Amino acid sequence: MNFRTIEEFDIARKRVVIRVDLNVPIRDEVILNTARVKAIIPTIEYCLRQHAEVVLLSHLGRPKGTCDPKFTLQPVAKELERFLNHPVEFVEDWRTWLRRSADSEHVLDSRVQLVENIRFEPGEESNSNVLGEELASLGDLYVMEAFGTLHRAHASTYKAVQAARQVGIGFLLAQELRMLSLAMVSPQRPLVVVIGGSKVSSKLKVVQHLLTQADTILIGGGMANTFLLAMKHTIGTSLVEIEFLEEVSEMLSSGRIKVPHDVMVCDGSLDEHGKSIHRLVDEVKAQEMIVDIGPDTARCYTKLIKQAGTVIWNGPMGVFEYDQFGEGTRVVGKAIGESAAFTLAGGGETIAAIDHNDLSQQLDYISTGGGAFLEFIQGATLPGISALRAHACNNDRCRN
Ligand code: 3PG
Repeated sequence: MNFRTIEEFDIARKRVVIRVDLNVPIRDEVILNTARVKAIIPTIEYCLRQHAEVVLLSHLGRPKGTCDPKFTLQPVAKELERFLNHPVEFVEDWRTWLRRSADSEHVLDSRVQLVENIRFEPGEESNSNVLGEELASLGDLYVMEAFGTLHRAHASTYKAVQAARQVGIGFLLAQELRMLSLAMVSPQRPLVVVIGGSKVSSKLKVVQHLLTQADTILIGGGMANTFLLAMKHTIGTSLVEIEFLEEVSEMLSSGRIKVPHDVMVCDGSLDEHGKSIHRLVDEVKAQEMIVDIGPDTARCYTKLIKQAGTVIWNGPMGVFEYDQFGEGTRVVGKAIGESAAFTLAGGGETIAAIDHNDLSQQLDYISTGGGAFLEFIQGATLPGISALRAHACNNDRCRN
């Protein structure tokens, strides 16, 4: 996908509207993970160097079209200011602001503004034409930079792109598309995919699609239980989705899926007090619950990761939040971090597992996408990309 980047436009003394994804975890006004804030800084700094005025649009949480102070972007404006080392104005009432800006001829060079949560607008999630047009008209150029929100057909990710006269993409989105294509479209072989997480249902399409591309898929986490059951192993009281046994059996018949041959089960409660006990998959007792892959499986996965040319990682291998159930995720994560392969990870809980094990500096690329990353690697067409593509085609820039 070859979209026009922000560098291909003359933005000097122009007003640039940038749709970013600043949907970050916040507790007591403290931002718990700043990766999405840091990731958009180069695009904003570029605009400032070009003497452009910047208007940032984002959502936060799911306020469902009403103005709920719980979801204000105000703390994010402060964090942005810290990373940019430049003032960021917080625009609560962007319609009044729009009228004022329209009245003024002057673009305010080096001004950075963050508009209040766009999901406070009822028209955002309903993908309203009117709201899309309003947002597109806020500036001279509409820049898409919100990779994490491209799987949503909302007014700021879809209709505004359709309505804007000039549309470009920012450095973060360009990098996301480049890195994901590197891993998915033209990977160095062998392509090894590590998939974990609790539910097979949320990863079914990912595994099915990746089976068409990958040389080996390593399965861990709660979703491995459904595979183990399909192979007639006992899984005790472990989480399982029996309605997917047929699909899982079909996937296993490919011969390219590896599942754990040893596991850790929980003795006691599934919290910091519980103990983990090692079991071979045939030895899991009726009352036991699988909470992690076992050490021998982790060794075997490590070996396959070492031989890989490309590794894609999505999902933890166990209940990593508790150290005694997190060894599988730690060992596999470390192997990915140390691998000479091109390594790519993404997805909300994967990012949490990477942070938990302090691995963020060791991977080649960590996507800022959660659901968008998952949909991309399952081969889905993201609505935000369709809108960008349609805009490019309508403007004779159909190079894709
Ligand atoms: C995300 O965090 O995955 C994106 O910001 C999208 O958020 P949503 O799932 O609330 O649409």
